[in-house]
Amino acid sequence: MFYRTLFTVVFARMDPEQAHHLAFTGISWFGKVPGLRTLGRGVVAPYRGTTGVRVFGRTVPAPFGVAAGFDKNARAVEGLTNLGFGFVEIGTVTARAQPGNERPRLWRELDLRGVRNRMGFNNDGAPEVARRLARLRRTRSGRQAVIGVNIGKSKATPLDEAAADYATSASLLAPYADFLVVNVSSPNTPGLRDLQAVESLRPILVAVREAADVSGKAAGRPPVPLLVKIAPDLSHADIDAVTDLVLELGLDGLVAVNTTVSHDRGPGGLSGPPELARGLEVVGRVRGRLGADKVIIGCGGITTAGDAQAYLDAGATLVQGYTGFLYEGPFWAGRVNLPLLRHTAHATMHPQEFSGVGPFGESA
Ligand SMILES: Cc1cc2nc3c(=O)[nH]c(=O)nc-3n(C[C@H](O)[C@H](O)[C@H](O)COP(=O)(O)O)c2cc1C
Repeated sequence: MFYRTLFTVVFARMDPEQAHHLAFTGISWFGKVPGLRTLGRGVVAPYRGTTGVRVFGRTVPAPFGVAAGFDKNARAVEGLTNLGFGFVEIGTVTARAQPGNERPRLWRELDLRGVRNRMGFNNDGAPEVARRLARLRRTRSGRQAVIGVNIGKSKATPLDEAAADYATSASLLAPYADFLVVNVSSPNTPGLRDLQAVESLRPILVAVREAADVSGKAAGRPPVPLLVKIAPDLSHADIDAVTDLVLELGLDGLVAVNTTVSHDRGPGGLSGPPELARGLEVVGRVRGRLGADKVIIGCGGITTAGDAQAYLDAGATLVQGYTGFLYEGPFWAGRVNLPLLRHTAHATMHPQEFSGVGPFGESA
């Protein structure tokens, strides 16, 4: 209620990007300022010690996490975890730092409770983000956080040099990631989505796998799980082709879906509730083809625990969201995760599956 008023009176009247920066600063305080850290942990306290989801060689404490794009530069991982997200997918990070597209590039679609963006991968670049993640992993809470790293192509890199560009990011970032996501589905880097065609995607994934393995091994880490993030606008045949490539290359799974360009609202990709039906359809299709063992992170249009549960029922292993955060406020993650955890607490997993030491030396 309080957040709804705050949203209507303050945030909805501000420039969307300024509102994001303001909210983002507040969220990062939840990981830094001692009093707020404690308050934030109170949000998630009710499900500490309950079951989590065993995936990526770790126990993800709760199935609902933050989707890529919210914390592009890994500046608020601890704050987001303290607010109740089970994991944080940072990025998209590109090999070179870049400013993104010119403004305006972010619009609210209030009648849809959606967002439209053409940000264009504004980020600090892989070397800087790797330094930040290295610092984070030196702390206890930083090691406990489950962090996915989403990588994309630098705008200045030609499409035919994409593989080397992705590999540079993978090499720098893999040692700090619990999982790596190759993003070939954002609509705001010219030509990027064409890389979803398997003949373009195969060399990228092979190069990323190799680069991540070499740098991970040098850092004493097991091979980092590797996923591909796909667009909701792909045809069924193209979705099947990417799924088959994941199987062929022995990768770990898929993130479905990114923002959609199937709308008439203006430039950029649309996110939020209009994506829910298609997101569920894609996840169901992919699960049917991938088999039970691979990881699927379901994303697109989640507002409630019921929406998230629908993704899990369609075959998702984990779920994540972005747009709902803007409309639902800081306690959104707790509201979605608590009912999911109550539900999984009744599932048939054995408690001993959840003990042990994770890849960063944290207790899992
Ligand atoms: C402002 C904004 C920026 C985004 N930036 C990225 C990004 O950098 N990389 C990416 O893979 N997805 C990005 N996304 C897509 C989200 O990760 C997610 O796939 C999409 O928004 C659907 O989920 P939602 O309906 O819960 O927002 C962005 C979304 C928004 C709204």
